[in-house]
Amino acid sequence: MRIGARQIAEHRDGLVMDGPMIEFAHAVGLLNHSVLADIEHPLVKQGYEAFRPLALEAPAFIWINSTDNTRTTQIEAGRAYARLNLAATRAGLAMHPWSQALQEYPEMAAFHARAEELMSAPSEARVQMFVRVGYGRQTGPAPRRGLSDHIRA
Ligand SMILES: Cc1cc2nc3c(=O)[nH]c(=O)nc-3n(C[C@H](O)[C@H](O)[C@H](O)COP(=O)(O)O)c2cc1C
Repeated sequence: MRIGARQIAEHRDGLVMDGPMIEFAHAVGLLNHSVLADIEHPLVKQGYEAFRPLALEAPAFIWINSTDNTRTTQIEAGRAYARLNLAATRAGLAMHPWSQALQEYPEMAAFHARAEELMSAPSEARVQMFVRVGYGRQTGPAPRRGLSDHIRA
């Protein structure tokens, strides 16, 4: 999570939280990474409750499954996702990845297994990308890091 314009500009990755209320809450110490790590905190509960209607009212979800989970397969899935995103954009659709449903840490294990069951990805198979899709407002580009941050020759 990158909280506020300064962190977003500095890191240019992750999930961004911005806008006047976020800046205010951050400036007065109401919102920071330790608050976000506390799943019982009212602000955090409010945050995930905000996702509930997004899930229930989403017109459609798309997911990409693979039969194994090798590094090559993961890269192929990423390439397929990039093509899918471009095709959706060409059709006037917006996509919102929901990787939070597929996190691979112990607290999420049961939910992750259930999500993969619902999306028909048994045993060695993997759901590589899961996105909600629909018609959305135009938004500006997300911040990006440069290639040199990712690729070392
Ligand atoms: C691999 C990947 C995983 C993402 N996972 C989530 C997520 O779990 N929850 C979420 O709200 N947004 C998620 N996002 C969406 C980003 O927060 C951001 O809104 C989106 O990447 C911006 O669109 P763009 O990448 O096409 O510029 C993810 C994006 C990517 C590329």
